[in-house]
This record gives sequence, structure tokens and C-alpha cells, in this order.
Amino acid sequence: MEEGETASPPRGSDGIHGMRILAVDDQRPNVVLLERLLATWGFTQVRTTTDSKQVLELVDGWSPDLLLLDLQMPAPDGFELMAALGDGAGAARLPILVLTADITVETRRRALSTGASDFVSKPFDLDEVRLRVGNLLETRRLQAELTQYAELLEARVRQRTRDLEQSRLEVLERLALAAEYRDDDTYRHTERVGRATAVLARRLGLSAEEAGLLRRAAPLHDIGKVAVPDSILLKPGRLTVDEFEVMKEHATAGARILGGSASPLLQMAEVIARSHHERWDGTGYPAGLAGEAIPLHGRLVALTDVFDALTHARPYKEAMPVQEALREMDRMTGTHFDPRIKAAFDELDHLALAGT
Ligand SMILES: [Fe+2]
Repeated sequence: MEEGETASPPRGSDGIHGMRILAVDDQRPNVVLLERLLATWGFTQVRTTTDSKQVLELVDGWSPDLLLLDLQMPAPDGFELMAALGDGAGAARLPILVLTADITVETRRRALSTGASDFVSKPFDLDEVRLRVGNLLETRRLQAELTQYAELLEARVRQRTRDLEQSRLEVLERLALAAEYRDDDTYRHTERVGRATAVLARRLGLSAEEAGLLRRAAPLHDIGKVAVPDSILLKPGRLTVDEFEVMKEHATAGARILGGSASPLLQMAEVIARSHHERWDGTGYPAGLAGEAIPLHGRLVALTDVFDALTHARPYKEAMPVQEALREMDRMTGTHFDPRIKAAFDELDHLALAGT
């Protein structure tokens, strides 16, 4: 919790007197009496009716906080109304104060089992009515506050979880940027790979949610380059066999940097970092996996990473025109790339993907 936030539930400003009370009795004098009493006690939101047929509609349309209900009325009577209203459960249930001249044990038991919250007997004992109305409304108010408070806490926890995930990701994005900054001074490569991977994923029928995760996870694929010395990472021209062995370590180094997280996004990023240099024919690294043994997300980034690298300049090479890059990638299909992923990639707008 932030400083200054309180741990106690929010307090209602106007207490129970602004809460809504619906009183139902087929005897007009009783209704008039209840209206007068409730007004005297300071309740400002009171509706009454002598026609029990209107009750369900009033409850639905006006959402009272308390129902004062006569039992003996022309149909529907109090029992029938309670049965009809009885679906609500727990805190959402409308409290019902039954008004009855019949105070036999049997009637009370039946009313309680049908949904009554409490009773007052006729003729009314005024203090008793006031106290029971007050108790039921106070309980209702507290329940509403607790529900509201629980929802508030839940929303706050969700927000904090998102914030935490976001800040963890930001740190890694900055680390990826630091790694990338060394060999791509425009440092847009990772962002473009993220975007292209998400577009490609959607084309392959993956869900929007999965594509959204890929959009954030794919840019971390080369984070392990922080472990590669400048002399190798920035070397113009071909690497020696030994140098290439060091370069290859960026895949496992990246997986180690990202590994062990509970976050689905970082778990995805770990898989991508480890597998984005595997090749469809099994000649890639670090594990030499082949075909569908290579995780799908790694296969996706294997392709988008190469496309972006070909179509953009690096310190040691010029950018290749998009059409030429696509021809080059055609030659790599089935050896380097998963043919199904390449086929989906062929349907995309390549100029847009290569742009920015
Ligand atoms: Fe890489």
C-alpha cells in the first residue's frame, strides 16, 4: 500500500438514511403509518404500495435496500413474493422484513425458509420496527462496503501485479537495448523483430493474447549478446571457428539471463533466446534441434530475425533490398526455416515489416 492509504473499508457518507426502502401492505392504513414512521425516523428514499402485483417490477426497477413485506395479501402474497425474489444469495440478497399479525412458530419458520430476514408483529411496536429496520439497513450497508472494499483490493492487487511485471520487463528491455546498442546504432532491430513476430503469429492463427506476448518477448532474443566481447560482436568480415563458438554462446547466455521466472512472458522470452538459432534441418545451435522439436516461438523468431538482419545495415554490412532478401530466404526454406511458417510469412506486407 502507498503511504497515506488506509487499510479500513471506505465509510458511507450518509449512513443508512439515504438507503431505499420499499414497503408493501394491502391495508392502506398500514402503508400510511409506515410512510409516516419512516419519514419521522429520517428515511428519505421510501416507496410504498398496496398492490402486491407491482412488487417484482419495483424491486427490479428501483433496487431497494430493504423490503418491508406483509404476508397476508391477495395474490401474490408475501410467501409467493419471497419465493420469486429468493434467487439472490449472500450479500447481494435483498433483506426482507416481514410484517405479520400471524406470529405462530409455523409461519415464522416457513417465512424464514422462504427468504425472510426478520419479523415485526402487527400491531407494530414502533421501537421494534425502528430497531429492526435500522439493523437490516446497517447490515446491508456494511455488506455493500465490504464487497466494494474487496473489489477495490482485488483491483489494486491486479494493478500491482501488472506494475511488477512491467517493471521487470522494462529492466530486461533496457538490458536488451544495451546489448543491441553495441552492434546496431539505430537500436530498432529488436523492436521490429517483436512487431514482425506478432504479425506473423496472427497470420499463423495464434491468439491475439499469444501474439501480444510474443510482441514483448521476441525483442529479448539477443539479450545474451551482453556476454559476447566487442572484438567478436563488432568484427568486420567473417568470424573464425573459435570466434563463432563464442558468438553462439549468446543463445544459452540469453536463456540463462531470462530463465527461472514465474512470468509467462519471460518464460516465452527464455525459450526464444535459447532456440532462435536452431534450424529446421537440425544444423543450428545450441542444441541442434530439428523440425517441430524446435519450439514454435523460436522458429518464428528464427525467421523474423533473419529477415530484419538482411534488410537492415549493420556495421559490417549493407542493407539488402526487400525483394532480394525474400529470394535469399526462399533458398533458406526447409533448411533454415520451417516451410509452414515461411509460407505464412510470404503472405505478409514485407515492405511494412522492413520499414522504420
Ligand atoms: Fe541471435
